[in-house]
Amino acid sequence: MNNSLYIVWSDDLNLGINIIDEQHRGLVSLINSFYYHIQMGASMVTMQSTLKTIEDYAKIHFATEEAVMAGLGFEGLDAHRISHDNLLLKTQQLLSSVKTDQDVYGVMPFLRRWWMDHIVKEDREFVDLIGNMSSDVFVENYKQQMQVMAQAEIQANEQSALH
Ligand SMILES: [Fe+2]
Ligand SMILES: [Fe+2]
Repeated sequence: MNNSLYIVWSDDLNLGINIIDEQHRGLVSLINSFYYHIQMGASMVTMQSTLKTIEDYAKIHFATEEAVMAGLGFEGLDAHRISHDNLLLKTQQLLSSVKTDQDVYGVMPFLRRWWMDHIVKEDREFVDLIGNMSSDVFVENYKQQMQVMAQAEIQANEQSALH
């Protein structure tokens, strides 16, 4: 068995926003798991369920990232959202096309290229632009976002206490 990972995470892929970095590592981890399944000759059911997990996790990740961007008042949010929507659509199309072992091999380059482009280029652009905001504005927006999230958490706890 080949013991190498398909994508090796390195610290220079970190963008400095913890939750986004954590989820990027999660996505890379899922892609590596998919690669491992291929090498191990896993069943088509396992392959498809791993791909579905990647798709579901991508949705969580995009929603998180867009909430962070909105909270920080990022002007490029609409364009970035379109890019997320396109990536998700492409992932879904690919997912539905995987029916045979041959199809499975065709998925790997897509996953690596698209995800690495997403992490390394598009998200990096966002972080660079945020970095150019005045630190006062950044801190103020960040504080407001934390308050909104804390409020949402209180409401969610109240809701669950009611049921
Ligand atoms: Fe991302
Ligand atoms: Fe993104």
